[in-house]
Amino acid sequence: MVNARLSAIGMSVPEKVIPNSYFESLIDTTEEWILSRTGIKTRYHAAPDEFTSDLCVRAVQDLVVQFPEVSLEDVDMILVATTSPDQPMPSMACRVQHRLSLSHAGALDIYAACAGFSYGIVMAKGLIAGGVHKKILVIGAETLSKVTDFTDRTSCMLFGDGAGAVLIEADKTGNIGGCITGASGEGGPDLYISGFAESIDGQPLKMNRCIVQNGRKVFKWAVTKVAEQMPLLAAANGITLADIDWFVPHSANLRIIEALSNETGVPMEKVLESIVDFGNTSSASIPIALYNGIKSGKVKRGDKIMIFGFGGGLAYAGTVITW
Ligand code: UT7
Repeated sequence: MVNARLSAIGMSVPEKVIPNSYFESLIDTTEEWILSRTGIKTRYHAAPDEFTSDLCVRAVQDLVVQFPEVSLEDVDMILVATTSPDQPMPSMACRVQHRLSLSHAGALDIYAACAGFSYGIVMAKGLIAGGVHKKILVIGAETLSKVTDFTDRTSCMLFGDGAGAVLIEADKTGNIGGCITGASGEGGPDLYISGFAESIDGQPLKMNRCIVQNGRKVFKWAVTKVAEQMPLLAAANGITLADIDWFVPHSANLRIIEALSNETGVPMEKVLESIVDFGNTSSASIPIALYNGIKSGKVKRGDKIMIFGFGGGLAYAGTVITW
């Protein structure tokens, strides 16, 4: 049987750091409110001429620098999870394929918002286990600052830009375990970026092409749904939550993560987050947190890492990786 191994990871963020004080002149808020209600200290915003595909390319270039033993020459599939592409077509995966000259690779974008990276890992594992592909790049990348409504005081301070990339290879033993996917599609109107349709399930959409959210509803759904699913994901891997060395949830809000820790008993010391320094980077938040956990030496070889993505859709996906 062919298994899938996550073997290398890279990341990138734009240069410009945005502190909480930046929002004090834009909206009715304070640095203290943002820190205490979200946990965020800083986030990064892309330059006007910098887009999601640029961050994707730099994250993959960083992956090769960090893990010089891996080769990208025979990458045969690129999956990019994003909700803020440079444009709807061509896909970000095709841009990466071209810009990194990965001419033997197929290319596909995954459209699952903050759960996109986790969905990408699940898809990559399936494609490798099914013998369809052997070496897959999975990238989570966003320039959410391009789709942020900077007049909306309930959301504009949350979002940041960034990208994380992992390499997943066919391998005898593998290190990607059991997976879980799901969605609460009825929550679509609670978190959206408008497109062509002017309503969803009969509810009119704000047509400003920016992220619109019902923060309280999404918060509640996230805590309830993820806390319910985490033990099931552990069981799908033949373990309990006590056996997890690291928990890497989507970094939407530090208070969501703390609530999950309270609900499930997984202590905050076992959490890897990217919310404090990078804000909510949607599909990039999990690989950025994982990257920094590995780079800082916290994550050791053999550690069991539960990743859990959740967000717009409302969709979720998770798996357990043994690093
Ligand atoms: O990746 C997934 C995408 N999104 C999410 O996961 C979002 C999840 N939700 C959240 O993170 C939180 O709901 C928010 C951070 C968006 C909001 O925090 P909250 O604690 O749920 O605030 P709230 O909406 O319950 O509002 C509490 C108070 C209100 O004032 P009153 O009515 O208590 O007087 C708001 O008017 O905070 C006020 N408020 C603010 N105050 C200062 C709302 N936004 C701000 C602000 N600065 N920016």
